[in-house]
Amino acid sequence: MESFVMPLCKWLQFSWWATDIRTSYWVYPFIQLIHFTGLSLWLGTNVAGDLRLLNIGKKPQTVAEVRDELFVWNWIGFCVAVTGGFLLFSSRATLYIVNPAFRVKLMMMVPLALIFHIFVQAKTPIWGRQPVVPAFGKLAGLLELLLWLGVVIAAVEIPSFG
Ligand code: HEM
Repeated sequence: MESFVMPLCKWLQFSWWATDIRTSYWVYPFIQLIHFTGLSLWLGTNVAGDLRLLNIGKKPQTVAEVRDELFVWNWIGFCVAVTGGFLLFSSRATLYIVNPAFRVKLMMMVPLALIFHIFVQAKTPIWGRQPVVPAFGKLAGLLELLLWLGVVIAAVEIPSFG
């Protein structure tokens, strides 16, 4: 795998946009802002859905209603976060790809949490139809919260290995 990943990272890092991001003093922080704005939307809407599954907070809406109202914002947030993340990554791709925290975040935690999120989102209309969220639904909400927390912890550790 390494044989084609590193050349790909080198190509990415020396692409015109990655060079611009790396060499300008304001573009990198601006893209961080984009990544964090997307993350606020993505993680915020995920946490709102998971807390509702766990029956925490005010409950004027059913689980299914919360999911439906946040669905579009949830995926807009994801697209913005991934675009920003990709651009940040491309600026120093050869360093990030060998960073253990980045590897844990991107190759383990993000795919795992994302697959689980899609599963929870698909199941929510079924769990939401019942007056009380079944125990399995609550457990799924808790597990999803913990998985995203794991992604954030791994992300925060990236600079420690840089
Ligand atoms: C959607 C789930 C994601 C979450 C929850 C997430 C979370 C975070 C957080 C909290 C940080 C800030 C770390 C810090 O500065 O303390 C960060 C930075 C970063 N993220 Fe993400 N991220 C996600 C997706 C991605 C993706 C898909 C990529 C790459 C393709 C990416 C690449 C990066 C990079 C390169 C940094 C900068 C690390 C540094 O040098 O400080 N992220 N992310």
